[in-house]
Amino acid sequence: MAVPYHRTTITRRQTLRLAAAGALGSVLPTRIAFGQTAKVRIGILLPYSGTYARLGNAITNAMELKFAELGGKLGGRDIELIKVDSEAAPPKATELTTKLINQEKVDILVGPVHSGVAMAMAKIAREEGTLTIVPNAGADQITGPLCAPNLFRTSFTNWQPGHPMGKVLLDEGKKNVVTCFWNYGAGQQSAEGFKDGFVPHGGTIVKEIGVPFPQVEFQAALTEIAALKPDAVYTFFAGGGAVKFVKDWHAAGLSGIELVGAGFLTEGVTEAQGEAAEGLRTTLHYADALDNPANLKFREAYLAKFGKEADVYAVQGYDAAELIHVGLEAVQGDTSAKADIIKAMEGAEFDSPRGPFKLSKAHNPVQNIYLRRVEKGVNTVIATAYEGLSDPAKGCKLL
Ligand code: PHB
Repeated sequence: MAVPYHRTTITRRQTLRLAAAGALGSVLPTRIAFGQTAKVRIGILLPYSGTYARLGNAITNAMELKFAELGGKLGGRDIELIKVDSEAAPPKATELTTKLINQEKVDILVGPVHSGVAMAMAKIAREEGTLTIVPNAGADQITGPLCAPNLFRTSFTNWQPGHPMGKVLLDEGKKNVVTCFWNYGAGQQSAEGFKDGFVPHGGTIVKEIGVPFPQVEFQAALTEIAALKPDAVYTFFAGGGAVKFVKDWHAAGLSGIELVGAGFLTEGVTEAQGEAAEGLRTTLHYADALDNPANLKFREAYLAKFGKEADVYAVQGYDAAELIHVGLEAVQGDTSAKADIIKAMEGAEFDSPRGPFKLSKAHNPVQNIYLRRVEKGVNTVIATAYEGLSDPAKGCKLL
């Protein structure tokens, strides 16, 4: 059958209609040039209000920085960002994600920060097959039992950052530890990650203290810790909650007990914490003071554009944008070529500000975890606590 195809005049809509009718398959090359006109629509679901607002803003800023560095194009196409405030509220996540996919018709989803939001978002993204990149939320399930070809993460699993801290403490003879965390998926899994690297090697968890999220009333927990007198307290708090916890800890003056944690405790907040943050040791897949060319260039560009220091959240957003770039470059912007985009993203390897970036078979970063200490408000590097740590990804069928 002859097809009325005029390369110069055919619109994208017409092309799609004809393609849908099965008329074009043998006549047209698969990647026709409609990419030059339609924008790549990226739906961003992040917290822009509440205790995690500064995390959402840092991720968004760094994505915009990366896209600007790429000349505002992905695979030859302009970019449109559709930003939605998740409020870090799991009950709102299903509706907001559905809206981005079905009403806004985004090509790619990026988000969220909160593990509870991630669980709802991932469920829908799996059903719809929408290409999704998680630039923070650490819910272990996303790259574990819920892993899927279209789900990627540029951040961490909640298990990862805390796991190496167990050995750090045991090597110093610190055997009795209290865990204290926001009592939802992320805090619980972070404490489990720590425990996993601590208890089997001789450590004892004296007490697990959960504080409801996003509550910042820590006095009862601090009183209990003072009475228990452990060698150290392992924590998971972030954003506004981390500011408050560190200040309250400092004011309580609990001498002889070391406060440690997943590095979120001192990410993007040391200025607000001031003196109270000095000397705190944490483990994380990033540190401000990492001395590699990608980090130096990134921090300088971020500071110049936004007048603020970059942090781990910014790094994760920057790398999410880079991962999208790798995927769309491989298909010259043809977002319908999903299998090819996924293949390119799976093979992505680049120099991230955190160090070498590559993904596991479950689509989660395999990365160094650094032992850091806050010095004059900067997260400095004491050592690499674990080189190339990969999440066990239990239950993931992509392995
Ligand atoms: C999470 O909910 O997964 C989460 C939130 C904030 C962080 C880290 C993890 O800093």
